[in-house]
Amino acid sequence: MLQEYDLTVGQVAKRCGIKVSTLHFYEQKGLIKSLRNSGNQRRYQRDVLRRVAIIKAAQQFGISLIDIQTTFAQLPNKRTPDKDDWQQLSQQWRAKLNKQIAAMEDLRDSLDGCIGCGCLSMTSCPLYNPDDNLADKGTGAVLLK
Ligand code: FES
Repeated sequence: MLQEYDLTVGQVAKRCGIKVSTLHFYEQKGLIKSLRNSGNQRRYQRDVLRRVAIIKAAQQFGISLIDIQTTFAQLPNKRTPDKDDWQQLSQQWRAKLNKQIAAMEDLRDSLDGCIGCGCLSMTSCPLYNPDDNLADKGTGAVLLK
């Protein structure tokens, strides 16, 4: 079994271009796994390289580690994503990215009305309190009354 786990933490870090401490962090978060050899040193399976590549790609798109962790956990036997899995994941993440872009565009458009204003009015500024969730409860700091 340990033969399959033949990469050291230093080898994985070097191959992936990340710090050893990052690998330890990923392992702590359950994103990757290792076994210990008889000398109590970590050893990784070669598929860890693919996992780290996916983690790095997802992070570039702003996908949180929690979302990556959730996605990995949904795969049968928590296996490393294969080519088909990656196609599905990348489609899901693309949709999420499109939502984030749309939200940022809305925010940018809201900002247009604030440029040169500075009022941050609770009643009229779209940035200060865009949804005004407590408007029906009265004016001012209703939670402090
Ligand atoms: S700062 Fe005046 S509308 Fe936003």
